[in-house]
Amino acid sequence: MDTNKRPDTMQRINTPALAQAFIDEQVAALRAQIGTGKVLLALSGGVDSSVVAALLINAIGKQLVCVHVNHGLLRKGEPEQVIEVFRHQMDANLIYVDAVDRFLDKLAGVADPEQKRKIIGKEFIDVFAEQAKQQDGIRFLAQGTIYPDILESDGVKAHHNVGGLPADLQFELVEPVKFLYKDEVRTVGKQLGLPDNMVYRQPFPGPGLGVRCVGAITRDRLEAVRESDAILREEFAKNGLQGKVWQYFTIVPDFRTTGILNGKRTYEWPVILRAVNSVDATAATVEEIPYDLLRHITARILQEVKGVNRVLYDLSPKPVATIEWE
Ligand code: XMP
Repeated sequence: MDTNKRPDTMQRINTPALAQAFIDEQVAALRAQIGTGKVLLALSGGVDSSVVAALLINAIGKQLVCVHVNHGLLRKGEPEQVIEVFRHQMDANLIYVDAVDRFLDKLAGVADPEQKRKIIGKEFIDVFAEQAKQQDGIRFLAQGTIYPDILESDGVKAHHNVGGLPADLQFELVEPVKFLYKDEVRTVGKQLGLPDNMVYRQPFPGPGLGVRCVGAITRDRLEAVRESDAILREEFAKNGLQGKVWQYFTIVPDFRTTGILNGKRTYEWPVILRAVNSVDATAATVEEIPYDLLRHITARILQEVKGVNRVLYDLSPKPVATIEWE
């Protein structure tokens, strides 16, 4: 039997009752696979790893060790939410690693997009492996692999940062959602009681805000990306666009433009807004944000985000442009 093929008999999980049946079945299967063993999971806070964490917490409680690596490129409020939901609400065994300085120091001065991605990926594996080595008796590694990852990339989680653990850290894999499509993962996540903003989260690249802080990342420009992104997300949520628009974010390029404030000339960064609709990220169209909302978001960013004096809206579809800026 091909263990990477979704069974033909598997029903599409599209109701709470079917999600609950899947959860019950997986909890039993996980207990049978893991027994009294210990499981390690890299918990990013994205929907896939969060659903895997919640399933495992239901199945084996504190035998699960979650590692949340804050690489400094997460969105505003994300590390805090992971800690709140998993440590405080679900009482999980969660190791929070503040690796912000480590990542940003390694990235300092690196402008090439692929080089940036490589550094982020390698550093992530190093940090995770160091944490794994500090744990005694881990036998299993849980992963949020989903069915499209198997279909598209031979079982390697698409763009996933974890995939190349050192040879002395070879664990048995635990992949409870590997036959699920994204919408099914969300239905299961909702049934597991995860918060809506975790379950219905827009796609977020592995290298995080790093690819939206164009060129060599600096802390102040990264902060401008994070703060402007938070304003955009807040306004989209308030105006009914969260969950409707496929992906939306801000970019801060590595050049400045002139402005004027209180009679004095300024020389600061522009912020670019991007909001696109897509089915599978291979093509995308631009969302037509209502003009009043654009004006309101612009005013807030200009007033609230330090170092910014100009806001632009990216009208380019994919192709010819890509969704991200680098
Ligand atoms: P592009 O920019 O190629 O993006 O049109 C297509 C989709 O992929 C996401 N993306 C990434 N995801 N690691 C990821 O995990 C990456 O390096 C990466 N680059 C782009 C992007 O956000 C969009 O959803």
